Amino acid sequence: MCGIVAYVGPKEAYPVILKGLKRLEYRGYDSAGVALLSDELKVYKKKGMVADLEESLVGKDLHAHIGIGHTRWATHGEPSDRNAHPHRSASGKLAMIHNGIIENYGQLKQELANKGYSFSSDTDTEVLLHFIDDIRENNHCTLEEAIRIALRRVTGAYVIVILDTESPDTLIAARKGSPLVIGIGKGEHYLASDASPIIEYTKEVVYVNDYELAIIKPDELILKNLGNEKLTPYVQKLDMELAAIEKGGYEHFMLKEIFEQPHTIYDCLRGRLDISSGKILMSGVEQHIEQLKNANRIIMVACGTSWHAGLVAEYIFEELCRIPVEVEYASEFRYRNPVIHKGDVIIAISQSGETADTLVAIEKAKEQGALIFGVLNVVGSSIARTSHAGAYTHAGPEIGVASTKAFTAQLAVLTMIALKLAKEKGTIDEKRYLHLLTELHDIPEKVQVILEQTENIKKIAEKYADARDFLYLGRGYNFPVALEGALKLKEISYIHAEGYPAAEMKHGPIALVDETLPVVFVATRDAYHEKIISNMQEIKARKGMVLAVISEGDETITKMADDVMVVPVCDEIVAPMLNVIPMQLLAYYIGVYKGLNVDKPRNLAKSVTVE
Ligand code: G6P
Repeated sequence: MCGIVAYVGPKEAYPVILKGLKRLEYRGYDSAGVALLSDELKVYKKKGMVADLEESLVGKDLHAHIGIGHTRWATHGEPSDRNAHPHRSASGKLAMIHNGIIENYGQLKQELANKGYSFSSDTDTEVLLHFIDDIRENNHCTLEEAIRIALRRVTGAYVIVILDTESPDTLIAARKGSPLVIGIGKGEHYLASDASPIIEYTKEVVYVNDYELAIIKPDELILKNLGNEKLTPYVQKLDMELAAIEKGGYEHFMLKEIFEQPHTIYDCLRGRLDISSGKILMSGVEQHIEQLKNANRIIMVACGTSWHAGLVAEYIFEELCRIPVEVEYASEFRYRNPVIHKGDVIIAISQSGETADTLVAIEKAKEQGALIFGVLNVVGSSIARTSHAGAYTHAGPEIGVASTKAFTAQLAVLTMIALKLAKEKGTIDEKRYLHLLTELHDIPEKVQVILEQTENIKKIAEKYADARDFLYLGRGYNFPVALEGALKLKEISYIHAEGYPAAEMKHGPIALVDETLPVVFVATRDAYHEKIISNMQEIKARKGMVLAVISEGDETITKMADDVMVVPVCDEIVAPMLNVIPMQLLAYYIGVYKGLNVDKPRNLAKSVTVE
């Protein structure tokens, strides 16, 4: 979704904001803009990437020590210069940026129109700004008071940051449902949607909570609730290095993140998986061990790639822990009045920790008494703060819009949780338990082996890059991998791709098979191996092209398939962590071959903070 950056302090604001917007561009990239306040308030906006804005500003007066910037992912109104943020109030005194959606903007707009306001954009943001401006002008109150009054009437999600010509050294920000981090420097403050624009200046940050208002001057940060009571800001230290958010020699963030996986999985296992003592140490699990192991059922709630991690985990938890598991799309779960009992455990899976649907889904389940356990990548994120307990995935910042390393880290964490619970419950025998610990331990090294075959996968990608459709098939643990493979391909290459359980293919998708259709089988050795070979034969008999992810030494499929991508032999429970790697590389190289922007695919956003 949209990204926001703001600065107040002794530095020139524009370069800080511009750099921050580039770091946040993964959140939205259909238009961008800045507002800078020195002698006068200047607002510049442009449709397109942040680089287009930058180019359009060459030679302009950009001097200011306070400013706000925005990169947009359109919700209300098409991507255009006029709909880009910041917006300006009718009085001309205020400029505002906004991330989120004002749901009742239609009603507010009508009220303002009745009062004679006109609108220069189609956005909900401009409506909120006029509303705040109107309250301040008519009630002769402070901007802070006007914001409080306005926000009490607003429904929806927002982070707003406002610049005011009447207080030229002050930014006012407010949040409900969308993320906001404030970086504390020496006599300066940085505001952003996440820590990536802040990290190179300071590691001291405050995460603003819902219904809080921040009044920020160069050397002062005041936090209040909407009832005007002062709150004590909770200053945290960022555990992140600048190098983690830069490309480090790779052509794209996505490729860098695919190649980081041996390290990220290792980091995720490190300090938790102790082969010598046969223990898994996870404090979040230990603190709630009784509730977790005695859960009536576990409900995995997530969206996108994280939902696929939940599907893999369903197979693992049911197999190892004998606890019934359901996997829910957060967007459906939150609206369909689900039955939740006290003994239920919700596992919320999210890379960003900010996905609006997942956040609201767990808030609802929490109200009904469920234990909320987060499997999250971003420390201090909204879902982390809403959960009772959790385990971080430690994959580091993921910038490429299509999730890669976060997925494998999610699988590593979920597998460890399942193993720990199974051990506690006594639903796994010692031999299998210890075998699976070793299997998990070996995953980073095996991922490295797969990455060494990148050139082969690149060639396969180029061979099939012009296909119009793809079908991805898998069984058991490999079925969610097939879904993830198809999702990666459509995200990155815009090729239509569907994932299916291999046997279910007979109930529809087989009608699509002809000599032009590449069918990707995730067919490593597991309990279903013979069955998936039969499915492959069914495709070959109809002249479909077969690409298969296979275990090392699988001669049968090597002879049968048009192309193979080989992965090291492993237990089926940990196989998805390996098998997804060729899927990621295949999608990546097809996208690159087609000349597409793989890090920022059209219409997609990294952090979906609107429903
Ligand atoms: C967006 C991203 C996906 C991601 C999904 C869920 O659609 O583009 O890559 O899987 O959101 O995000 P989350 O941060 O909750 O894992």
